Amino acid sequence: MRIGILGSGLMGGKLGTIFARAGHEVVFSYSKSEQKLKKLARDAGPNARAGTPRDAAEGADALLLAVHWLRMDDVLKQAGDVAGRVIVSCSMPMNADDTDLVVSGTSSGAEQLAKRLPNTRIVSAFNTVPSEVLFGVYAARRRTAKPSLLFCGDDARAKQIAARLISDVGFEPLDIGPLRMARYTEPFTMIIAHLAYEGARGPEMAYRFEWYKE
Ligand SMILES: NC(=O)c1ccc[n+]([C@@H]2O[C@H](COP(=O)([O-])OP(=O)(O)OC[C@H]3O[C@@H](n4cnc5c(N)ncnc54)[C@H](OP(=O)(O)O)[C@@H]3O)[C@@H](O)[C@H]2O)c1
Repeated sequence: MRIGILGSGLMGGKLGTIFARAGHEVVFSYSKSEQKLKKLARDAGPNARAGTPRDAAEGADALLLAVHWLRMDDVLKQAGDVAGRVIVSCSMPMNADDTDLVVSGTSSGAEQLAKRLPNTRIVSAFNTVPSEVLFGVYAARRRTAKPSLLFCGDDARAKQIAARLISDVGFEPLDIGPLRMARYTEPFTMIIAHLAYEGARGPEMAYRFEWYKE
């Protein structure tokens, strides 16, 4: 698939690199440094290149949206027409100092995004893992029991694409239903972040759900 990365920081940089190494065609975009985008693309290998958000959006089978909530207007404006696109968003509706959610309870960041971009197909995914585990999960993808990764969305085809990307990274995709389930996954990520960055054991954690049957 052709994947456009909108936001090439901790999440976008790592996921884009993994997608490219897994065989997808990747365009890294949206950083304050063009040099950084070029280096990311070089390090990710022959399937990756650097571009503008507009380049990333053009002809993409899926867009990974990985920016701070406050950068949403700007990156979407730069991406231009995204009508019809599958957008996999790991972006969380955080306040400026990343201490709390600015949308929660009866809505979620993912639903706000869908309202704002009604002609796109949004899937919420990858926001329930610290970026620090991504390369490790990818490296271990054939060796260990896979950690789960929750995703949700309203469009079946978009969810198939997201599930494929989630598997390519090395997770077991766990479909938790419609996009409104993001109301529950987004606060859940606050627990993960707390464990990862305030807890004693650090960010090298990846959860696993198991079916239990006697
Ligand atoms: N990090 C995690 O573990 C994690 C986990 C779950 C969810 N999330 C969510 O995922 C989203 C992305 O997080 P992240 O940690 O990847 O953030 P990040 O490292 O700060 O990456 C954001 C990207 O946006 C770019 N950017 C910011 N301001 C810009 C500007 N004025 N012009 C152009 N580019 C600009 C940054 O540029 P530079 O490259 O120049 O920095 C960077 O490439 C957030 O919504 C976050 O809440 C993150």
